[in-house]
Amino acid sequence: MAQATVARPAAAVGPVPAAGSAARLFLYSAIFWLLVADAVGLLASLQFINPQWAGSIEYLSFGRLRPIHVNGVLFGWLSMAQVGAAFYMIPRLCGNRLWSEGLGVWTAWLWNLLLVLAVATLLFGYNQGREYAELVWPLDVFVVVLLLLAGLNVLMTVARRREKKLYVTVWYVMGSFIWMPILYFVGNAMWETGNYWHLSGAIGGINDATLNWFYGHAVLGMWFTTMGVALAYYFIPVLVRTPLYSHSMALLGFWTIAFMFPLVGQHHLLQTPTPAWLKTVATMGSVGLLIPFLVVLTNLWMTMRGNWQKVYESVVLKFFIAGTVFYLITAIQGSFQAMQGFNRLVHYSQWIVGHAHVALFGTYSIWLMGAIYYMVPVLLRRRLWSQSLAEAHFWLATGGFTLMMLSLQIGGLIQGAAWLQGTAVANLLSQLKPYFMVRSIGGAMMVTSGFIMAYNIYKTATAGEPEEVPTRARGTLGAEY
Ligand code: HEM
Repeated sequence: MAQATVARPAAAVGPVPAAGSAARLFLYSAIFWLLVADAVGLLASLQFINPQWAGSIEYLSFGRLRPIHVNGVLFGWLSMAQVGAAFYMIPRLCGNRLWSEGLGVWTAWLWNLLLVLAVATLLFGYNQGREYAELVWPLDVFVVVLLLLAGLNVLMTVARRREKKLYVTVWYVMGSFIWMPILYFVGNAMWETGNYWHLSGAIGGINDATLNWFYGHAVLGMWFTTMGVALAYYFIPVLVRTPLYSHSMALLGFWTIAFMFPLVGQHHLLQTPTPAWLKTVATMGSVGLLIPFLVVLTNLWMTMRGNWQKVYESVVLKFFIAGTVFYLITAIQGSFQAMQGFNRLVHYSQWIVGHAHVALFGTYSIWLMGAIYYMVPVLLRRRLWSQSLAEAHFWLATGGFTLMMLSLQIGGLIQGAAWLQGTAVANLLSQLKPYFMVRSIGGAMMVTSGFIMAYNIYKTATAGEPEEVPTRARGTLGAEY
């Protein structure tokens, strides 16, 4: 895209990184961490088929592999790809350059350092024991600092914008960067510093679980969901060259997400002795979340009116439309799972793991993968090296993931139903084995698809045909076509 030239500040020392360097570094790093974290997930899944495969090597035990996988996909793959996408979209929507390309590049390198330390500490068994918040205290501080640095870059770019209108993607990205450091600080109880330093009395037991799940679900909703929706609102109109169907609907979705998501964390604790009113609030909030989810989908699908045939032509659009289908599944499952009756059946079963993957892989990862195939060639001013490999990636990732989702969720229903009838876990394991095998086969397809993407992007960077990117033209709502 044509970039406005910005005079280099007189005080700047050393070479100024080229426009897009920070976005590119974040995107390349995200792909690297996807490969690592996905492969670790696959290794962990093998434990369900044969718990003895790793013998007594503690580093390969499930308790070490699972947090490395989860933190790797959440903070390595998804978060880094999201920041890269924000650094790509925000300057284009604001009509200027990223506020500080140098700061962005530094943030990306430090983020990689964080991930190395995270994997190392988790591998050696240092774990806070809070789900999605496993990193130990000093690393927590590192996470918040990096989020603030990336957020500062985004917010300053918006503050200095030349485009008057704030397109909805800008709203969603700004919201995400403001909410996430606050949520992370609160959910990780960062004022409690373990053995190092106590500012307050420790929060223990069930109250800690409540705090954990306030964060655990809000982070899904106010970081991964909001950044995912920001991407879809940006890329679908760009790909079909049609303005977004409704700006007002997008803002209705934004404010209902902001209102509902902080309420729902307790639906993870419906089967625990926590206050009943908190559970009721969580159930109501979860059902209420159908509003923003359906608003987003209606808005995106209405934007597609008259454009559906373009799905056959564009692999990037295929990723985005497939993601909307998984988004619908996420929304329906999420709301029903929060009802006491259905929750009793599926809680503590593989169903929930399936649901987590529908949102985080089926929707947000699939959207990000599609976006990467669009952004990297634009940033490099080169053609994508192979469309057919991108197509192969799409079918392997969505096909493999469908196998994983079905196996986990059917297996989960069998598990839940048996437990409700009092059948012990041990008596059920042989029955569940085929489902675990299908999950690993699906997982292997997903891992392979990630390697195909990495190879295609590598070849694009090193051997892609140079291409002049069309200059920026603006639609009615400030989107770039
Ligand atoms: C971008 C891709 C992926 C994302 C975003 C992702 C995300 C997650 C999340 C959030 C969890 C925690 C679920 C929960 O506690 O309910 C999880 C667990 C897990 N994932 Fe993934 N995952 C991905 C890819 C994979 C792949 C390719 C496999 C391979 C089979 C895999 C296997 C597992 C396993 C075995 C667990 C532990 C489940 C348990 O504790 O019972 N994941 N993943």
